Amino acid sequence: MSSQVQSQGSVSADLVDGGTVSRGTQADWNAYASEYDLLSDHNPEYRALQRDFEAFLATIETPDRIVDIGGGTGNYTQIAARCCPGSAIRLVEPHEGMIAVARRKLSDFRNITYDTATLESVDAPGTADLVVCVHALYTMPDPDRRLADLRRLLRPGGWLYLIDLGRRLDVKDWRAYLFSHLRREHGVFRALRILWQSREIAKQNTAIERAQTEGVYRTHTAEEFASAVTAAGFDIHRQETVYRGYSDLIVARARA
Ligand SMILES: C[S@@+](CC[C@H](N)C(=O)[O-])C[C@H]1O[C@@H](n2cnc3c(N)ncnc32)[C@H](O)[C@@H]1O
Repeated sequence: MSSQVQSQGSVSADLVDGGTVSRGTQADWNAYASEYDLLSDHNPEYRALQRDFEAFLATIETPDRIVDIGGGTGNYTQIAARCCPGSAIRLVEPHEGMIAVARRKLSDFRNITYDTATLESVDAPGTADLVVCVHALYTMPDPDRRLADLRRLLRPGGWLYLIDLGRRLDVKDWRAYLFSHLRREHGVFRALRILWQSREIAKQNTAIERAQTEGVYRTHTAEEFASAVTAAGFDIHRQETVYRGYSDLIVARARA
């Protein structure tokens, strides 16, 4: 059974036990893919998270095996590949549109393998030294079981670098924040042009906000998130609220 997910509009289907089940409103990641990297180009909060990940890599022993779950267009895989050229990096991403962008962008790296798959279908227990999962967990069915899947991929003592959207994504608030930043950086006309170019991002973020409101995508407080990560078999080393208060970052180790 293929675990690749085909999206239709803003409603997508998940594969469950050989059949498909609709979960209601969700983002259309294939549609998001073509504009997704405007985020890394223009959103300073997105870039701050990337810098944090790079700084984190400098603090740990170089991992032999790194898995980037829900890796999207490969922005975290790219940092890992650049900072850890001797590591084997596996990008796991179920949406063809996203992973195709990653393949094109990262074609010069020889230490990356691409897996068009969901987290729940990955079968490589206990082999990873580092699992990265950024802004992907909240989109998955049953996040608590998915946390257990992340734990299952790691060797005891292996690292988890996890960021998750916890609070309701207020699209109007983000638009105002980004416009003000872009206007300062580029002037009003270029700012308006970039926002126009990013209209698919706004559309998909609106679908995310709706999915959160409908309970299809789970939200959480920092405390709830920490409890869930601990219950899944991790010891937390660092926890921070990031992304303008919307997301939680946790660095943890898999308990033996
Ligand atoms: C907001 S994007 C994050 C991409 C990347 N980690 C980043 O921060 O740039 C969320 C990603 O999660 C992926 N995703 C959704 N459901 C998934 C699942 N069940 N297993 C793995 N990835 C999934 C989506 O396809 C999408 O690319």
